[in-house]
Parts: sequence; C-alpha cells; structure tokens
Amino acid sequence: MTFALETQDLTIRFGGHVAVDAVSCGFAPGTLTAIVGPNGAGKTTYFNLVSGQLRATAGKVFLHGQDISSASAPQRSRRGIGRAFQLTNLFPYLTVLENIRLAVQSRAGLGLNLWSIWSSHRELIGRAEEVLETVALTGKRDWAAAALPHGDQRKLEVAILMALEPDVFMFDEPTAGMSVDEVPVILDLIRGLKARSDKTILLVEHKMDVVRELSDRIIVLHNGALVADGAPAEVIASPIVQEAYLGIEVAK
Ligand SMILES: Nc1ncnc2c1ncn2[C@@H]1O[C@H](COP(=O)(O)OP(=O)(O)OP(=O)(O)O)[C@@H](O)[C@H]1O
Ligand SMILES: [Mg+2]
Repeated sequence: MTFALETQDLTIRFGGHVAVDAVSCGFAPGTLTAIVGPNGAGKTTYFNLVSGQLRATAGKVFLHGQDISSASAPQRSRRGIGRAFQLTNLFPYLTVLENIRLAVQSRAGLGLNLWSIWSSHRELIGRAEEVLETVALTGKRDWAAAALPHGDQRKLEVAILMALEPDVFMFDEPTAGMSVDEVPVILDLIRGLKARSDKTILLVEHKMDVVRELSDRIIVLHNGALVADGAPAEVIASPIVQEAYLGIEVAK
C-alpha cells in the first residue's frame, strides 16, 4: 500500500533547537490520525513542514509516494495537501459566500477570475452554498469575513479548506477558542470527512475525549521526536501520554 502522506526523518532546527526531530511516519488513505503532545512538542511545526510553510533542515515528505520535499507551499496545496487557511490569507472585505466561492473556483481550476461566465458562476455559487450549509454559516453568508466572530472565522477557515477538496486534511486545534456550542459543528464536519473513506486526516488536538472518539490512531510528539504510535486506547494509557498531559495540567 502507498501512504497518502509520508515523512522520512523529517527534521527542522531553529538555531541549536531541534523543533522536529527525524520524524518518520506514514499515513494510510482513509484514516484519521491524531497528533498529541505537550505545548512546544513540535506539532504545528510538523504541519508547517508537511504543508511547505517551513523548509526542512533534513528529511523528506512524500505525497502518494512522490517526493514533494522541494515543492513550494502553493504547489503542495494544488497537489492535494490541505491546511486550514488563516483568515489573514483570505479576503477580509469580501463576504463569507464570496470567500468560499473563490476557493471552489480555484479548485475548479478557473483561477481567481471574478468574471467567469454566468452558467459556471451559478454552479460555483451552488457548490459554495452547499459548503456554507455544511459549516452552518448560511445565515451569515453576506457578512464581511473580517466582521465574523472568532468561532465563525474558524468555521470559515474549515469551509475554505473543504471547498478546496484536498486529499490530506490537516487540522491544528480546530476548536481552539470556540464556545461550547460551536465545537460540535466542527467535530461533525471532521466526522463527515472521515466517513468519506478516501480522505486522509491529521488532527492536532489537546482535548483527549475528542481524540479518543475521532481517531483511528494516535502519534505522540515530545521534544520534536515521535515517541509513541498506536491504537487510541493503548497510546492514551501509555505512561508517556499520562505524564505529558499531567505536565500540561500542572503547567496551567
Ligand atoms: N519560527 C520559529 N523559530 C524559532 N523557534 C520556533 C519557530 N517555530 C516554532 N519554534 C519552536 O519550536 C518548538 C515547537 O513549537 P510548535 O509550535 O511546533 O509546538 P506545538 O506542539 O504546536 O505546541 P502547542 O501545543 O503549544 O501548539 C517550540 O519550542 C517553539 O518555540
Ligand atoms: Mg501548535
């Protein structure tokens, strides 16, 4: 079997500090892997190396068996690696619907051309409306993206990601900063993606109940290194996770 995504000895050093330390890991198509570990373990940095936001000091990244280590972030995105956009990368003064439509349009290969012909315009709008509905933002479709409350901005980030239809989804604490009633919307979305067994999902999440429920597998990063990898129940019960999460409790 070819992994959807694989890293081999992926490493980055910042000065003398090794933030990601020779991480070798393959992710099978159609699986959801949770990545856990204490603050500063290297989880976000690992994502940045996979998506191409950061260039590795050493090691390789493969997408469907092809070496993409020298590809830029936009090239990796076009090839199917999906990372939630920060709102700062979107169009803050366009509406929620327009932002999603532009993502749908870029996926459709039309580029960022606002003057596409009417019929395809209708199709794009239709698809954008579907995505809007999935993330429960229909009621705010005409809001400027910048005017959305924080939780809705996170939903919009996920909506844009879904509209781009990547093969590999990377979620970095997707529910961080959300109110209790907003969290289920995002979790349902991830559940829905998981049900489509062709998608490969990587999820960084601190909430262990969420991790336990959603993941097929858990890997643990600690000081940049991969220190545990296995079935959720087994990894959660392991001393390294118990200790790491106890550490977090104490630190807070
Ligand atoms: N651009 C950078 N320059 C220097 N050091 C960095 C940079 N980015 C990350 N680091 C360092 O790399 C280490 C890993 O950080 P990272 O943000 O990946 O951790 P994390 O596991 O995502 O933590 P958290 O759970 O708090 O989000 C930290 O020590 C951090 O300070
Ligand atoms: Mg992080």
